[in-house]
Amino acid sequence: MKKIVSFFFLLLFTLVFSSVSAQIIRGPYLQSVSPNQGIIRWRTEQATDSRVIYGESPNKLTKLVGLKQAVVDHEVIISGLKPNKKYYYTIGDHKTMEAASEKRYILTAPKLGSTQAVRIWALGDFGSGSKNQLEVKDAIVKYTKDHRPDAWIWLGDNAYSKGLDEEYQKKVFPIYQDEFFQNLNLYPAPGNHDYAGKHDPSEPPYFKIFSMPVQGELGGIPSGNESYYSVNYGQVHLVSIDSELMEPSGLQVMDGKGAQFEWLEKDLAANKLPWTIVYFHKPPYSKGSHDSDTEKDMVKMRQNVNPLFEKYKVDIVMAGHSHVYERTHPLRGHYGINATFDATKHIVENTTAPNQYAVGKDGQGVIYIVNGSGGQLGGQRDGYPLKSAIYSNNKIGGSMILDITKTKLEAVWLGSDGEIHDQFSITKK
Ligand SMILES: [Fe+2]
Repeated sequence: MKKIVSFFFLLLFTLVFSSVSAQIIRGPYLQSVSPNQGIIRWRTEQATDSRVIYGESPNKLTKLVGLKQAVVDHEVIISGLKPNKKYYYTIGDHKTMEAASEKRYILTAPKLGSTQAVRIWALGDFGSGSKNQLEVKDAIVKYTKDHRPDAWIWLGDNAYSKGLDEEYQKKVFPIYQDEFFQNLNLYPAPGNHDYAGKHDPSEPPYFKIFSMPVQGELGGIPSGNESYYSVNYGQVHLVSIDSELMEPSGLQVMDGKGAQFEWLEKDLAANKLPWTIVYFHKPPYSKGSHDSDTEKDMVKMRQNVNPLFEKYKVDIVMAGHSHVYERTHPLRGHYGINATFDATKHIVENTTAPNQYAVGKDGQGVIYIVNGSGGQLGGQRDGYPLKSAIYSNNKIGGSMILDITKTKLEAVWLGSDGEIHDQFSITKK
């Protein structure tokens, strides 16, 4: 009798276990979304096949893409999509699919060259697990309730303190999953913490977790390298640079030579869109938790790469690393330390009112922004605030929203308190 009972329980256990579908423990999250395709990724506890069902309404999901191989890290490409269109989707395997939801969709990127307005959310140094991280996120959720961002850029130091997979799992995915990961197009950059302080791109989980558009899927010169890439989004050319990568030659982008630097120059030279934003982790100017007078990487970035930004009339260079917010005047030719800043020489701007820049055909200087308090917060070095800065804040965390049309760029820095603490606009004829 005892044997029969044990057999019965074993049978029951087997039936129950095998009928439970694999539990989703990460995602779904969108990657490399372009005008015509997107990648949906997620992770399951047990290895299963992958299925995505999608369609134009959450009640009418009609198309299926499936991959038979059993995996825990799922990656499904949905292609043949139309630009600037919302496709709802659900994920699962051959046994079970998750329920559809209003919040689970891909909004494909605008048709290349489109003049439609776009809204970008820029976030830096966030995955710390802090209260500030949650408050900065909540402020953005509230601020964008009636006008969602179209794209999300990361400025590095995405997961503290070593960029480990489990740090992304604890301090990044759960925080942004519901509101953003499942429906927002993400174009990240890595920081020194994502590289665990090293420079070898074969190590960071960052490169395994994310899929970058390196084939020119969204315009720009294909980089063929997940460390750096560019995308055209509406009228803005977004360039994601890797300030941590060391090439086999020993060169880094801030050396002003090497493969990444050469690609950057080619990419900037080829750009025809009216707006350019270049983003990466280590800023050329900061007096927050890092000091651009003394830290070698930042000094070299300023000396060797800023001339390129100026040559190609980049509008905004945005970084993190320093856990503060700092925005400079439009600058040209300021390659020395903070003390050498000379407003009469280095500020190149034309304003119609404070913080409202009007740019003619010769362009203006480059606005350098440190936006590194999306989770981490605080710090100041000798000489804070920067002499070249028009606004600095190391007391409260925040992140930026940029609204960009063909002729106007409007930027706000939204604090964790939900207030706008800094804003500016640039108009181009
Ligand atoms: Fe950093």
